[in-house]
Amino acid sequence: MKDQFVIAQISDLHIKAHGKLSYKKVDTLHAFKRCIEHLNQLSPAPDLVAITGDLTDFGRSDEYKAFTDAIASLNLPWVAIAGNHDDRENLRVAYKNQPWQPEQGTFFNWVISDLPIQIIGLDSTVPNKPWGEFCKDQQEWLEQTLSLHPHKPTIILLHHHPFLSGIGHMDQQNLRGIERLECTLKKHPQVQRILCGHLHRFITTTLAGITVCSAPGTSHQVALDFRLDAPAHFSLEPAGMLLHRWNIKHGFTTHYLNLGTPEATYPFYDENGLID
Ligand SMILES: [Fe+2]
Repeated sequence: MKDQFVIAQISDLHIKAHGKLSYKKVDTLHAFKRCIEHLNQLSPAPDLVAITGDLTDFGRSDEYKAFTDAIASLNLPWVAIAGNHDDRENLRVAYKNQPWQPEQGTFFNWVISDLPIQIIGLDSTVPNKPWGEFCKDQQEWLEQTLSLHPHKPTIILLHHHPFLSGIGHMDQQNLRGIERLECTLKKHPQVQRILCGHLHRFITTTLAGITVCSAPGTSHQVALDFRLDAPAHFSLEPAGMLLHRWNIKHGFTTHYLNLGTPEATYPFYDENGLID
Protein backbone atom coordinates (compact mmCIF):
# COMPACT_ATOMS: atom_id res chain seq x y z
CA MET A 1 0.00 0.00 0.00
CA LYS A 2 1.33 3.44 -0.91
CA ASP A 3 2.08 5.75 2.01
CA GLN A 4 1.28 8.87 -0.01
CA PHE A 5 -1.59 9.83 -2.27
CA VAL A 6 -2.09 13.14 -4.07
CA ILE A 7 -5.42 14.37 -5.40
CA ALA A 8 -5.45 17.33 -7.76
CA GLN A 9 -8.80 19.08 -7.35
CA ILE A 10 -10.10 21.19 -10.18
CA SER A 11 -13.56 22.70 -10.34
CA ASP A 12 -16.21 24.62 -12.21
CA LEU A 13 -15.00 24.19 -15.76
CA HIS A 14 -18.25 25.51 -17.29
CA ILE A 15 -17.34 24.10 -20.70
CA LYS A 16 -19.24 25.47 -23.67
CA ALA A 17 -19.41 24.04 -27.17
CA HIS A 18 -18.83 25.42 -30.66
CA GLY A 19 -16.43 28.14 -29.53
CA LYS A 20 -18.99 29.98 -27.38
CA LEU A 21 -17.75 32.09 -24.49
CA SER A 22 -19.25 31.76 -21.00
CA TYR A 23 -21.20 34.94 -20.21
CA LYS A 24 -19.94 36.16 -23.60
CA LYS A 25 -16.57 36.79 -21.95
CA VAL A 26 -14.69 33.65 -20.88
CA ASP A 27 -13.17 30.99 -23.12
CA THR A 28 -13.70 28.20 -20.62
CA LEU A 29 -12.71 25.38 -22.97
CA HIS A 30 -9.36 27.04 -23.70
CA ALA A 31 -8.82 27.57 -19.95
CA PHE A 32 -9.55 23.89 -19.32
CA LYS A 33 -7.04 22.82 -21.95
CA ARG A 34 -4.41 25.02 -20.26
CA CYS A 35 -5.31 23.41 -16.94
CA ILE A 36 -4.82 19.96 -18.46
CA GLU A 37 -1.36 21.02 -19.66
CA HIS A 38 -0.50 22.05 -16.10
CA LEU A 39 -1.79 18.75 -14.74
CA ASN A 40 0.20 16.72 -17.25
CA GLN A 41 3.38 18.60 -16.33
CA LEU A 42 3.11 18.19 -12.55
CA SER A 43 6.01 16.21 -11.14
CA PRO A 44 5.56 13.92 -9.39
CA ALA A 45 2.26 13.31 -11.09
CA PRO A 46 -0.87 13.38 -8.90
CA ASP A 47 -2.51 10.01 -8.35
CA LEU A 48 -5.94 11.26 -9.27
CA VAL A 49 -7.70 14.35 -10.61
CA ALA A 50 -11.02 15.13 -8.91
CA ILE A 51 -13.45 17.50 -10.63
CA THR A 52 -15.92 18.97 -8.17
CA GLY A 53 -18.79 19.80 -10.47
CA ASP A 54 -19.98 22.27 -13.11
CA LEU A 55 -18.14 20.43 -15.87
CA THR A 56 -20.39 22.16 -18.39
CA ASP A 57 -22.12 25.53 -18.48
CA PHE A 58 -25.66 24.46 -19.41
CA GLY A 59 -25.56 20.67 -19.03
CA ARG A 60 -25.99 20.09 -22.77
CA SER A 61 -24.80 16.95 -24.49
CA ASP A 62 -22.65 18.93 -26.97
CA GLU A 63 -20.89 20.57 -24.01
CA TYR A 64 -20.13 17.14 -22.53
CA LYS A 65 -18.78 16.10 -25.91
CA ALA A 66 -16.44 19.13 -25.85
CA PHE A 67 -15.37 18.17 -22.31
CA THR A 68 -14.82 14.53 -23.24
CA ASP A 69 -12.76 15.48 -26.29
CA ALA A 70 -10.59 17.80 -24.19
CA ILE A 71 -10.01 15.49 -21.26
CA ALA A 72 -8.80 12.74 -23.59
CA SER A 73 -5.43 14.54 -23.49
CA LEU A 74 -5.19 14.25 -19.68
CA ASN A 75 -2.59 11.62 -18.78
CA LEU A 76 -4.03 10.96 -15.31
CA PRO A 77 -7.04 9.08 -13.96
CA TRP A 78 -9.94 11.33 -13.06
CA VAL A 79 -13.29 11.34 -11.30
CA ALA A 80 -16.12 13.87 -11.33
CA ILE A 81 -19.27 14.82 -9.49
CA ALA A 82 -22.28 16.81 -10.63
CA GLY A 83 -22.70 20.55 -10.09
CA ASN A 84 -25.74 22.76 -10.44
CA HIS A 85 -24.78 23.55 -14.06
CA ASP A 86 -24.63 19.83 -14.91
CA ASP A 87 -27.35 17.45 -16.00
CA ARG A 88 -27.30 14.09 -14.23
CA GLU A 89 -28.59 12.11 -17.19
CA ASN A 90 -26.22 13.71 -19.69
CA LEU A 91 -23.42 13.05 -17.20
CA ARG A 92 -24.32 9.36 -17.10
CA VAL A 93 -24.37 9.12 -20.87
CA ALA A 94 -21.10 11.01 -21.31
CA TYR A 95 -19.12 9.01 -18.75
CA LYS A 96 -20.69 5.58 -18.94
CA ASN A 97 -17.27 3.98 -19.52
CA GLN A 98 -15.69 5.40 -16.38
CA PRO A 99 -15.32 2.75 -13.66
CA TRP A 100 -16.65 5.09 -10.95
CA GLN A 101 -19.75 6.00 -12.95
CA PRO A 102 -23.02 5.19 -11.11
CA GLU A 103 -25.25 3.17 -13.42
CA GLN A 104 -28.53 3.78 -11.66
CA GLY A 105 -30.24 5.58 -8.83
CA THR A 106 -31.65 9.06 -8.49
CA PHE A 107 -28.38 10.59 -7.41
CA PHE A 108 -25.00 10.72 -9.12
CA ASN A 109 -23.22 9.13 -6.13
CA TRP A 110 -20.17 6.88 -6.24
CA VAL A 111 -17.46 5.52 -3.99
CA ILE A 112 -13.90 4.30 -4.58
CA SER A 113 -12.56 2.13 -1.77
CA ASP A 114 -9.60 0.28 -3.28
CA LEU A 115 -7.10 3.16 -2.98
CA PRO A 116 -5.02 4.13 0.09
CA ILE A 117 -7.80 6.61 0.90
CA GLN A 118 -11.50 6.18 0.28
CA ILE A 119 -13.07 8.75 -2.03
CA ILE A 120 -16.80 9.41 -2.02
CA GLY A 121 -18.60 11.41 -4.67
CA LEU A 122 -21.78 12.85 -3.15
CA ASP A 123 -24.41 14.41 -5.41
CA SER A 124 -25.61 17.64 -3.78
CA THR A 125 -27.51 18.94 -6.79
CA VAL A 126 -31.22 19.71 -6.97
CA PRO A 127 -32.42 19.56 -10.60
CA ASN A 128 -32.92 23.03 -12.10
CA LYS A 129 -31.99 24.80 -8.85
CA PRO A 130 -28.78 26.68 -8.10
CA TRP A 131 -28.62 25.59 -4.48
CA GLY A 132 -27.74 22.15 -3.17
CA GLU A 133 -29.26 19.79 -0.63
CA PHE A 134 -28.16 17.01 1.69
CA CYS A 135 -31.51 15.30 2.12
CA LYS A 136 -32.54 12.35 4.29
CA ASP A 137 -32.10 9.87 1.41
CA GLN A 138 -28.57 11.12 0.83
CA GLN A 139 -27.87 10.97 4.55
CA GLU A 140 -28.95 7.33 4.64
CA TRP A 141 -26.73 6.48 1.64
CA LEU A 142 -23.72 8.30 3.07
CA GLU A 143 -24.05 6.73 6.50
CA GLN A 144 -24.34 3.24 4.99
CA THR A 145 -21.32 3.91 2.77
CA LEU A 146 -19.19 5.27 5.61
CA SER A 147 -20.11 2.34 7.84
CA LEU A 148 -18.47 -0.12 5.42
CA HIS A 149 -14.91 1.19 6.01
CA PRO A 150 -14.93 2.90 9.40
CA HIS A 151 -11.13 3.07 9.70
CA LYS A 152 -10.16 4.08 6.17
CA PRO A 153 -9.11 7.72 5.69
CA THR A 154 -11.91 9.21 3.65
CA ILE A 155 -12.45 12.27 1.53
CA ILE A 156 -15.90 13.46 0.43
CA LEU A 157 -16.49 15.44 -2.74
CA LEU A 158 -19.66 17.49 -3.08
CA HIS A 159 -20.35 20.51 -5.24
CA HIS A 160 -22.19 22.95 -2.96
CA HIS A 161 -20.38 24.58 -0.06
CA PRO A 162 -21.59 23.36 3.35
CA PHE A 163 -20.83 26.69 5.04
CA LEU A 164 -21.34 30.42 4.67
CA SER A 165 -18.58 32.09 2.68
CA GLY A 166 -19.66 35.68 3.30
CA ILE A 167 -20.33 36.27 -0.41
CA GLY A 168 -24.04 37.03 -0.20
CA HIS A 169 -25.35 35.83 -3.56
CA MET A 170 -23.40 32.57 -3.32
CA ASP A 171 -24.54 31.86 0.23
CA GLN A 172 -28.13 32.01 -0.95
CA GLN A 173 -27.32 28.93 -3.02
CA ASN A 174 -25.10 26.93 -0.69
CA LEU A 175 -25.87 23.45 0.66
CA ARG A 176 -29.17 23.00 2.47
CA GLY A 177 -29.09 20.43 5.24
CA ILE A 178 -25.72 21.41 6.70
CA GLU A 179 -26.80 20.36 10.21
CA ARG A 180 -27.77 16.95 8.86
CA LEU A 181 -24.37 16.54 7.24
CA GLU A 182 -22.65 17.70 10.41
CA CYS A 183 -24.58 15.10 12.41
CA THR A 184 -23.46 12.33 10.01
CA LEU A 185 -19.83 13.44 10.02
CA LYS A 186 -19.66 13.41 13.82
CA LYS A 187 -20.49 9.68 13.70
CA HIS A 188 -17.76 8.89 11.17
CA PRO A 189 -14.40 10.33 12.24
CA GLN A 190 -12.54 8.65 9.37
CA VAL A 191 -13.62 11.55 7.13
CA GLN A 192 -10.60 13.85 6.86
CA ARG A 193 -11.44 16.28 4.07
CA ILE A 194 -14.55 17.66 2.40
CA LEU A 195 -13.89 19.10 -1.03
CA CYS A 196 -16.40 21.31 -2.79
CA GLY A 197 -16.64 23.68 -5.72
CA HIS A 198 -19.39 26.15 -6.63
CA LEU A 199 -17.66 29.18 -5.06
CA HIS A 200 -14.97 29.48 -7.76
CA ARG A 201 -12.52 30.54 -5.03
CA PHE A 202 -10.10 28.82 -2.68
CA ILE A 203 -11.79 29.06 0.72
CA THR A 204 -11.21 26.85 3.74
CA THR A 205 -13.14 26.35 6.97
CA THR A 206 -14.23 23.44 9.18
CA LEU A 207 -17.40 21.43 9.62
CA ALA A 208 -17.69 19.00 12.52
CA GLY A 209 -13.96 19.54 13.03
CA ILE A 210 -13.17 18.45 9.47
CA THR A 211 -11.33 20.73 7.05
CA VAL A 212 -13.51 21.85 4.16
CA CYS A 213 -11.89 23.28 1.02
CA SER A 214 -13.55 24.93 -1.93
CA ALA A 215 -11.47 25.02 -5.09
CA PRO A 216 -10.86 27.97 -7.40
CA GLY A 217 -12.32 27.76 -10.90
CA THR A 218 -10.29 26.61 -13.87
CA SER A 219 -11.35 29.75 -15.77
CA HIS A 220 -13.32 32.55 -14.04
CA GLN A 221 -13.60 33.27 -10.32
CA VAL A 222 -16.53 34.57 -8.26
CA ALA A 223 -15.76 38.17 -7.32
CA LEU A 224 -14.76 38.54 -3.68
CA ASP A 225 -17.36 40.80 -2.07
CA PHE A 226 -18.54 40.35 1.53
CA ARG A 227 -21.64 42.50 1.19
CA LEU A 228 -24.92 40.67 1.71
CA ASP A 229 -26.27 42.33 -1.42
CA ALA A 230 -23.10 41.74 -3.42
CA PRO A 231 -23.92 41.61 -7.14
CA ALA A 232 -23.46 38.26 -8.86
CA HIS A 233 -20.21 39.14 -10.59
CA PHE A 234 -17.21 37.13 -11.67
CA SER A 235 -13.59 38.16 -12.13
CA LEU A 236 -10.70 37.04 -14.29
CA GLU A 237 -8.30 36.53 -11.39
CA PRO A 238 -5.84 33.74 -12.19
CA ALA A 239 -7.29 30.25 -12.41
CA GLY A 240 -6.12 27.65 -9.93
CA MET A 241 -6.31 24.15 -8.53
CA LEU A 242 -5.78 22.48 -5.16
CA LEU A 243 -3.40 19.64 -4.43
CA HIS A 244 -4.45 17.52 -1.47
CA ARG A 245 -1.50 15.43 -0.35
CA TRP A 246 -2.24 12.58 2.03
CA ASN A 247 0.58 10.92 3.96
CA ILE A 248 0.06 7.79 6.00
CA LYS A 249 1.76 9.34 9.07
CA HIS A 250 0.73 12.95 8.83
CA GLY A 251 -2.64 12.97 7.09
CA PHE A 252 -3.62 15.70 4.65
CA THR A 253 -2.00 18.95 3.64
CA THR A 254 -3.65 21.14 1.00
CA HIS A 255 -1.71 23.30 -1.45
CA TYR A 256 -3.05 26.04 -3.69
CA LEU A 257 -1.58 26.21 -7.18
CA ASN A 258 -2.13 29.40 -9.14
CA LEU A 259 -2.32 28.50 -12.83
CA GLY A 260 -1.36 32.01 -13.88
CA THR A 261 2.03 31.74 -12.24
CA PRO A 262 5.07 31.08 -14.42
CA GLU A 263 6.37 27.60 -13.79
CA ALA A 264 10.09 28.42 -13.56
CA THR A 265 11.78 27.88 -10.18
CA TYR A 266 14.83 29.70 -8.79
CA PRO A 267 17.37 28.66 -6.12
CA PHE A 268 17.48 30.18 -2.63
CA TYR A 269 21.12 29.01 -2.27
CA ASP A 270 24.30 29.00 -4.28
CA GLU A 271 27.81 27.72 -3.47
CA ASN A 272 28.15 30.52 -0.86
CA GLY A 273 24.96 29.66 1.01
CA LEU A 274 21.78 31.76 1.11
CA ILE A 275 21.97 34.14 -1.82
CA ASP A 276 22.57 37.74 -0.62
FE1 LIG B 1 -19.67 26.99 -11.10
